[in-house]
Amino acid sequence: MLPSSNGTGEGLGARLSEGACVEQMQVAGKSLAERADELEAAMALALENVIPVKSVIYVSGERDPREGPLVKSRDPKMQGKLKLMGPDPRLAPMPAKPTLVDFFKLRFAGMHMLQSARLARANGLEDKVVLACLLHDIAVAGFIQGDHGYWGAQMIEPYVDEEITWAVRTHQALRFYPDPAVGYEYPAVYVTNFGADYKPDPHIQREYERARKHKWYMTARMITVWDIYAFDENVTVDIDDFSDLIAKHFRTPEEGLGFDDSPVAHMWRTMNMPTRML
Ligand SMILES: [Fe+2]
Ligand SMILES: [Fe+2]
Repeated sequence: MLPSSNGTGEGLGARLSEGACVEQMQVAGKSLAERADELEAAMALALENVIPVKSVIYVSGERDPREGPLVKSRDPKMQGKLKLMGPDPRLAPMPAKPTLVDFFKLRFAGMHMLQSARLARANGLEDKVVLACLLHDIAVAGFIQGDHGYWGAQMIEPYVDEEITWAVRTHQALRFYPDPAVGYEYPAVYVTNFGADYKPDPHIQREYERARKHKWYMTARMITVWDIYAFDENVTVDIDDFSDLIAKHFRTPEEGLGFDDSPVAHMWRTMNMPTRML
């Protein structure tokens, strides 16, 4: 994303991508395009430090909407070309009837949930907690980071027991509140990430108050307990280690995730084909 500098509301990046002649302009020994690339690279690097995980969907938000859409069809090279209305050829092809395991292997970013589930299992927790750990950040890995507990719970709701959905939704709030009785302290990394004075939003505070009195509190709390230890770059975990657990507790639709006409099918379709035009 680049700042608008021509007063038209159209960003430099957009103008560069649409007008090859601009690339010929020279500023201080470097072409404008070179300087724009440098600036963009520096900004991307700075953002990497702020945004730890980016799913395929997430990177689609890196443009200021006030710049207007990047209308590639105005490019003479794009004239007469059809728009993408199916799988993105840059991504690994998905099977016609994708399963949860396919999404883990071909779409989800990172090892964090797998490591978390592995720890929960190694520490003798029951299946439903292991599955909750395996799914707890599914929105971060495949969709978007903001409000991830809520998005994640929604996308698994038709396929798992209500307790697991509830736990995934609620872990978002519980992460901010210690429970020394089970060895969960406020994460030191949150002080680093959000500052020592950070206060969770009122809706998160309310969610926490409700959760504390809930019969499934400990299921969600266990997600947080096995969450904090699950960021180890040196541990690789195979989703196939959990295929029995998934077969038993995740009701994969016959038509495949995204094609079962459930109220959340569109979310799985979008993760499968994130760049379809419509
Ligand atoms: Fe999380
Ligand atoms: Fe997590």
